[in-house]
Amino acid sequence: MAITRDLPTSERLRTAPEPHDPKPPSYDDHDELDRTWGSGPGVRGWFSAVNHRVIGLRFIVTSFVFLLLGGALALVMRLQLMSPDATLLSPEQYNQFFTMHGVTMMFLFAVPMGEGFAIYMTPLLIGTRDMSFPRLNAFGYYVFLIGGLSLYTAFFLGLAPDAGWFNYPTLSGREYSPGARIDMYTTIITFVELSALVAAVELVVTILKQRAPGMALHRMPLFVWAILVMAMMILFAMPGVIVASIMLALDRMADTLFYVPSGGGDPLLWQHLFWWFGHPEVYIILMPGLGFISSIVVAFARRPIFGYTALTVSLVATGIISFGL
Ligand code: HEM
Repeated sequence: MAITRDLPTSERLRTAPEPHDPKPPSYDDHDELDRTWGSGPGVRGWFSAVNHRVIGLRFIVTSFVFLLLGGALALVMRLQLMSPDATLLSPEQYNQFFTMHGVTMMFLFAVPMGEGFAIYMTPLLIGTRDMSFPRLNAFGYYVFLIGGLSLYTAFFLGLAPDAGWFNYPTLSGREYSPGARIDMYTTIITFVELSALVAAVELVVTILKQRAPGMALHRMPLFVWAILVMAMMILFAMPGVIVASIMLALDRMADTLFYVPSGGGDPLLWQHLFWWFGHPEVYIILMPGLGFISSIVVAFARRPIFGYTALTVSLVATGIISFGL
């Protein structure tokens, strides 16, 4: 059966060869599959690639680069702190460095790295050829990339945010932080978290709808369970910080008063919305790690996992309880 790249994904999934075809695949089959699921040639092919392994790898490599950048900032901070009264960084620069470091590590490294592994591994582990919405997947990566590049462009243009990664009003309000630094923060947070939401939607739909025949939920590898919980947590947590950022942007640019006490607003609202995201964030980062450990131990011990149900329940419970923090 001819399968072409031009067909929409839903059609391609329908026309893909049966996964349990008793015939071993020939070289021709491999070529056909490569043509169907691989990326096109040249620069255009590079930019239009949607395969989950390509996108997953890009997330992993890009977030690793951000880890190195965040590490470089940390190094400069430690140099400044190495001796009393050091003058490597001015107080204003130090504020920018720890804010950039925190934003980089939390938004541009830890979560996207987990998403990258999830996007790469999940279809392989549940026996499907790609994510449910491959183009949306690629869109999520580019939104993340644009967010991260914008942050570092702002840094090199002298517009780095400087109110901490938690960015509390009233410090981050117009009165105490005039200029564009905080506007950069609100913009990139919205971009990067939109990308996380996209990845989460993809992962939830793929895991719930595209498992190989016979792979009931209670037979999924624990890694996939960890990713499902992570993705569900992202769906509930990230809108909090997106909404908080948009409201702050409106306060700063459209004269709204959400966080302005003199106008009847409440700065504590930011803290509620931000930590609605911020506490689960820690467990969002932890989940892929738990999944890795479960899978690696099982593989090397060559034993079926002990306490599968208890582990699954505890992953789900951790996800839910983390919101109560
Ligand atoms: C060897 C690696 C690291 C070093 C040396 C380092 C160093 C630092 C330093 C010096 C600060 C500023 C403390 C201050 O003066 O307020 C800081 C803050 C912070 N770091 Fe790291 N860090 C490292 C890795 C990480 C990683 C891996 C993450 C997260 C994944 C992370 C997340 C944060 C956050 C969220 C803050 C708070 C930023 C803020 O106050 O806005 N760091 N780090």
